[in-house]
Amino acid sequence: MSDVPPATTTPADRQVTPETAGRPVTGADPALRAAYRLCRRRTKDQDPAEYALIQLVPPTLRPALHALWAAANALDDLGDDRTAPAAERAARVEAWITALHRELPTGSSPDPIRHALVDTACRWRLDLSELRDAMAQVRDDTRGRHFADWAQWRAWGRDNLLPWFGLVRTVFDRAGVPVALRLDTREAYEEFLDGVRLTDILTDLSADLAQGDLLLPAEVLDRHPGSAADLTRRRWSPAVAALVTQLTGLARQWVTREALTRGMHPGPATVLDTMAALLRAQLDAVDAAGPALLRSPPRPALRVRARILAPARTRAALAWSLTPLTVPPRHRPGPHRSPAPARPASTGRFRQPPPHPGGEQPPRIPPGLLPAHVAVIMDGNGRWAQQRGLPRHEGHRAGAVTVREVVHGALEIGLRHLTLYTFSTENWRRDPEEVDAILDLLRGELTENPFGELDVRLRWHGRAGRLPPDLVDLLHLRERTTRARTGLTLTMCIDYGGRDELTRTAAALAHRARAGHLEPDLIAEDDFARHLPLGDMPDVDLLWRTGGEQRVSNFLPWHTAYAELHFTPGLWPDADRRDLWQAITAYTHRQRHHGATPAATAPASGTPAASADGPSTARRSAAPAAGPGE
Ligand code: IPE
Ligand code: IPE
Ligand code: MG
Repeated sequence: MSDVPPATTTPADRQVTPETAGRPVTGADPALRAAYRLCRRRTKDQDPAEYALIQLVPPTLRPALHALWAAANALDDLGDDRTAPAAERAARVEAWITALHRELPTGSSPDPIRHALVDTACRWRLDLSELRDAMAQVRDDTRGRHFADWAQWRAWGRDNLLPWFGLVRTVFDRAGVPVALRLDTREAYEEFLDGVRLTDILTDLSADLAQGDLLLPAEVLDRHPGSAADLTRRRWSPAVAALVTQLTGLARQWVTREALTRGMHPGPATVLDTMAALLRAQLDAVDAAGPALLRSPPRPALRVRARILAPARTRAALAWSLTPLTVPPRHRPGPHRSPAPARPASTGRFRQPPPHPGGEQPPRIPPGLLPAHVAVIMDGNGRWAQQRGLPRHEGHRAGAVTVREVVHGALEIGLRHLTLYTFSTENWRRDPEEVDAILDLLRGELTENPFGELDVRLRWHGRAGRLPPDLVDLLHLRERTTRARTGLTLTMCIDYGGRDELTRTAAALAHRARAGHLEPDLIAEDDFARHLPLGDMPDVDLLWRTGGEQRVSNFLPWHTAYAELHFTPGLWPDADRRDLWQAITAYTHRQRHHGATPAATAPASGTPAASADGPSTARRSAAPAAGPGE
């Protein structure tokens, strides 16, 4: 059956639920139907493998996937169109993005691909501002790309692919088939996407070289001396052959991730497994191409593809027949609706945090003296409740109120990073009822989303394996929808343990060394830091623990190596934003040496210790305004 959105659903469409059956999907808008038809045709013509994969999902979901695929490619094509100079291409990409943002609230576009995309976003309630960085990257790519190492290459590829794949996952979620990714599979998922990207690059090597692009990290080119120069001259040499063999091997390893689909609904699992099989077939074609790889993109033989797709179609049909899908009605934005429905991030407009109930103002601390990163061990909830004859979970509830207060205080004082120890890997040892209460509370807070309208980027640090999948999904959702925010980065450590973090980092390094990307003898602190689960989290300047205990309880061992410690006797639910301000004020009075002699860390000396992370040697105190002093 055609997968252009039908004017009405038909009995043949088995996945339609009773509520959605018969409901018009696109209404009678011929322009919209033509727009979706164009997206489908472009997918089919430009990427038959992708088209075949989309055919594995029920017809009601296909238009959205065609629209997303066609939009991503239309934008890439604009950036890549070498008939225009780089600056003009960048301007065209920028104009496309600007037009999209302008058209989104109106629900329509004169450009057919954007028309389908805007409609898909309205219908499935997709937050297209998640694509902001990915789209900006296409614009920036017009200036050319150079990657020193795999880390840079990976960051570039992931910034582009993750948001688009994230929207595809949201479509599945909204249709009632959540594609739950737990953190333990998340790394595998991201590596899978690296494999997708590398396979694409190898396939399109001839076209990229013709345009003067070599989208591989210098790190791997250097391992095959001469390969970069040979490739640029499009000369098939032993160095190039060895390079290609190494890269196809790597990509094959990255796309072979059986654990990825474990526990997943069999529908999306079939799509992902088939995608992996098609990618491996593509890599076989790259391997078999030899010198022809530098002349045209290799393709697997049709019969090879058919051997993969025929059983996949049977499996997919069976898988989807198990689950009725829900197709949301279209949310047509009316003239009175605000242009940015859920999220102000894309426009940069945020609400200010509510003021302190007592009218207290933050101390005036010059930005250069503020700690860049404050981490808090929020201790004392249980005792707070016990002192009042209440069950312990009431203490956690009160503690959640303090979290809001302290986040407001962090925004007011201009802090960039606040990390909260919320649930430790050891906290599972508590009574299951208490654990459930804490997780319920977290679920409630994330659902209510009290920081949704503030300039707060939420991140989660911890393991997923033991957390309820719906909580993991909520965390991912909040991470995704706030990732472009630049105010306060609020990291919640949930099922977090410092030793677990270090152990996982060691495993990641071992894995990379075994794959030949790292020389064990050359592993430096930097390499270690980059392989931490949150590789970009800055060092902690100030570690504050409430509740009177003077220990660190397995919290951020790597990042707190040089943190200033601040212990306060009060219980967490009794704290408020003034306590955070007081902790920060105390910090501004500390002398930090980072191992050097005091004289060497004077600000003028320009040592790293004196550069950006607040106080160094001299006693430089802040000027507390109406806020608490020391
Ligand atoms: C800290 O408060 C919160 C969590 C560990 C979740 P506690 O629950 O440890 O409170 P006390 O230390 O027992 O008072
Ligand atoms: C640390 O507090 C963990 C959190 C605040 C989430 P704990 O109360 O669990 O630590 P210990 O048991 O006193 O070391
Ligand atoms: Mg405690």
